[in-house]
Amino acid sequence: MAEFQSVRGFHDVLGEDLKRFRYVSDSIRKLLKLYNFEEILLPVVEYLEVFQRSIGEITDIVQKEMFVFQDRKGRWLALRPEGTAGAVRAYIQNKLYALKPYTKLFYEGPMFRYERPQAGRYRQFHQIGAEVFGIQDPQVDAEMIDLVYTVLSKLGIPATIEINSIGCRVCRPAYREALSEYLEKVVGHLCDVCMDRKDKNPLRVLDCKVDTCKSAVKDAPKMVDYLCQECREHYNTLKSYLDKLSVPYRENHYLVRGLDYYTKTVFEAVSDELGITLIAGGRYDYLVEELGGPPTPAMGFAVGIERLSMLIKDLPQEEPLYMVLPFGDVMDYALEVVKKLREMGRRVELSYRKAGLKKQLELANKLKADFVVIIGEDEKKNRRITLKDMRTGKQETINFPELVHETL
Ligand code: HAM
Repeated sequence: MAEFQSVRGFHDVLGEDLKRFRYVSDSIRKLLKLYNFEEILLPVVEYLEVFQRSIGEITDIVQKEMFVFQDRKGRWLALRPEGTAGAVRAYIQNKLYALKPYTKLFYEGPMFRYERPQAGRYRQFHQIGAEVFGIQDPQVDAEMIDLVYTVLSKLGIPATIEINSIGCRVCRPAYREALSEYLEKVVGHLCDVCMDRKDKNPLRVLDCKVDTCKSAVKDAPKMVDYLCQECREHYNTLKSYLDKLSVPYRENHYLVRGLDYYTKTVFEAVSDELGITLIAGGRYDYLVEELGGPPTPAMGFAVGIERLSMLIKDLPQEEPLYMVLPFGDVMDYALEVVKKLREMGRRVELSYRKAGLKKQLELANKLKADFVVIIGEDEKKNRRITLKDMRTGKQETINFPELVHETL
């Protein structure tokens, strides 16, 4: 066994897994460009307070999942557990609100949460997130959920989109109260953590994964029944837009999400195959203001790249591979051929191995070459190449580079 192992929950991504990872990431980036989002590169480290103030003190992430440390001057910093808080910090710091009436940003990169590792749950994982700042209208919510649906459809991943509204400053207090009253009645069934949440942040109890808590909240009051007129209209308009766009969704009246910054719309795309959340997001109309910016409504989501990658069954076909096999004193010509083929846009591997034809062909097979280009002394002298199609076994010798265009 190797002397060192990677840290628990931190993974090397390689081989087929990395191909799936890149396929997911590239496909989503392409879609984000179509929706005209602009990329922002955000730091991996922020001041701890950025996350405490946005995600919320009484959340699992802040209470027990962050990698927190002090720098040499004693300032408290954290590895980012998610991207929204940093995006909002950057939006305010760079005064993006002053440039345009609204701003559409996306980011991609590693996030860090000290969670118990299991399939699809890591301590370092990767997200692509998209955020729209400056628009209150549910048209944005609809467009974002449509984008999520398009991502899933493009990648061929069966999932159910769940939506809910968790209200705003106006209507949530009455709901909170009703929920607290209800929780008092089922208090005997709540876990220790929820006993604390029940008073400090009762909505969190709806998100608890402990079985007794899950069944205790089965008949809890629903936020939809408490929405103020504005929130109700927002929610109903969103649903009508989604219907118009033929985006299927399921209402989950107990969906609250594990972060405190949300208002009005929240949503999650849950894998039909694995039952885990793949993509999640919602509206957060107060966060910019709470972090010191001008009042700015906002809405976004983040994709768990590893989680989508796990569900990719078939990758698109790769470009055919040409393996160039030199025999004899021909390396100068072989290098020239390789360069020319790459200039023509072909995927080319030059064999570095010195061996006879049989061994070289074995290597080409191992590397899954589609074609081999055999170059011996004769080929060099006549400026030709011998091309063998590994799939059919057909072989021909052609002039180089003149005939390559016609033959390859
Ligand atoms: P979140 O639900 O905490 O939301 O994370 C979004 C997605 O990241 C999850 O649905 C999941 O796919 C992935 N994810 C989360 N934790 C892990 C983990 N430990 N291992 C692997 N994948 C994981 C947010 O992060 C919000 N910032 C989303 C958002 C953006 N809301 C508004 N804008």
